[in-house]
Amino acid sequence: MEYILSQKYSTPELMTKIMGPNPVKLEEELLSECKIPERSIVCDLGSGQGLTSVFLAKEYGFKVYAADLWSEPENNRKFFRSMGLGDEQIIPVKADAADLPFDKEFFDAVISTDSYNYFGRDAEYLDSSLLPFVKKGGYIYIAIPGMKKDCHDNIPPELLMSWTPEQLDYIHDAEYWTNIVSKCKGAEVVCVSEMESNDEVWADWLMQDNEYAKGDRRAIEAGGGEYLNFIKIILVKR
Ligand SMILES: C[S@@+](CC[C@H](N)C(=O)[O-])C[C@H]1O[C@@H](n2cnc3c(N)ncnc32)[C@H](O)[C@@H]1O
Repeated sequence: MEYILSQKYSTPELMTKIMGPNPVKLEEELLSECKIPERSIVCDLGSGQGLTSVFLAKEYGFKVYAADLWSEPENNRKFFRSMGLGDEQIIPVKADAADLPFDKEFFDAVISTDSYNYFGRDAEYLDSSLLPFVKKGGYIYIAIPGMKKDCHDNIPPELLMSWTPEQLDYIHDAEYWTNIVSKCKGAEVVCVSEMESNDEVWADWLMQDNEYAKGDRRAIEAGGGEYLNFIKIILVKR
């Protein structure tokens, strides 16, 4: 995968904002045949410290709502200002994906990178909690860390060097996600497939100097990466 748009967001300074494998590179691949028009109103769901939101506003021309549970909107607002973006382009919102604080049919699209696996594993979630906020015909683009083949009944020891079985329960294969999203009545499944991005997005994350990245190094350095992948899911609201 050749990353063109996301390269300039992958500087050491901006990489201090990421909370997992390089999300701007994942997002560039996710949106490689993007059907969302410029100036669309987009929710970056689980936006973390907002680097992907900046990427979406600047490179794709969307008006972005950076919705996240754990991060502080005021910190994200300062970051957005420092990147030259004002409230007319990008708005930070403290939000639980299970109880979104927006008007019904507000968004043209939802884009979610490295976070949907925290809140979207219940097959009811799309119909009950997310699709009501998306316009008819609107797209949902999701990129999540996955497993090549679910192995929760016999977890390889390499993976247990960094993660507990409970933490690994957030990560599943494409078949698992196909089963979840195909139960949804309100959206058509465009695709659920393995992404190309893998080694490079991990490498960008593992070189970060924080305790989470350091913790993840043990499994990947022991070869655990061979069981893992990234999965993209694209849906369109009926
Ligand atoms: C691994 S971080 C990824 C953040 C960002 N997308 C990135 O890649 O740097 C997962 C994110 O999911 C968000 N998240 C988890 N559960 C959530 C929920 N119920 N509602 C909204 N966001 C949630 C967290 O706040 C966190 O920022």
